[in-house]
Amino acid sequence: MNAGLYFASDHIDEHSLRDRTVVVIDVLRAGSTIPTALANGAKEIIPVHTVERAVKLSGSLFGDHILRGGERLGKTIEGFDLGNSPSEYTSERVQGKAIIYSTTNGSRAIEKARYAKSVVIGGFVNLSSMLGFLQEWAGDFVILCSGNSGKFSMEDSVCGGMLLNELGKQNGDLVLTDAALAARALYKDFGRSIPKMVRTSEHGTYLSSIGFADDLKYCATVDHLKILPQLVGNVVKIKPNGEMTPESEKIVGT
Ligand code: MLT
Repeated sequence: MNAGLYFASDHIDEHSLRDRTVVVIDVLRAGSTIPTALANGAKEIIPVHTVERAVKLSGSLFGDHILRGGERLGKTIEGFDLGNSPSEYTSERVQGKAIIYSTTNGSRAIEKARYAKSVVIGGFVNLSSMLGFLQEWAGDFVILCSGNSGKFSMEDSVCGGMLLNELGKQNGDLVLTDAALAARALYKDFGRSIPKMVRTSEHGTYLSSIGFADDLKYCATVDHLKILPQLVGNVVKIKPNGEMTPESEKIVGT
């Protein structure tokens, strides 16, 4: 079982992920907000990279079952219904809705993975569900960290490293690329306090400064949600049977 990792989506083009199995990680905050929205009953998330496309797409879809969500510079996009704080994606707001979703890094990373064979999405909040998926898959895969404005981000890299570390406990034949090894080493160091690592990361510090300190605690909570978002065509939905299994529940932290 060979595992690769990219520290940021700018490090690759979409063709390098063609036909691969890909785990997209965006701890702050798309990989935490998407599982939250789906757990709270959103029907589907439609990730789009640009605001223009989000506006165009929502103009072509009618009805009150469509919402627009996302951020630029961490703040709600003008005219959108929701920002990118997971706290906004309550069941009252999102139950039964399709959400056209555009964020700086997360939706861009998901788009980069669009030619992959299989794409799942998350962060610390649904780590065991991603782990359960990889154990079941038991084949080669790639972790794509969304990064921060196309560059390395500590929180995504440590989350990817944690996933690899947990998987390695169960799979003696897991072979890591240099980048994957480096991410695992980062987890072993900075993962000793995940809340502190998230709080002191560049993007964490920025989000605190604009009033989203509570999001950091939420996004740093490991296994808050038992749910696995999966990209199917152009749409993200809950993966059927993507709930955490008792088997994967046992593994994290042992
Ligand atoms: C992103 O996808 O770029 C992030 O989720 C940005 C954020 O809202 O913190």
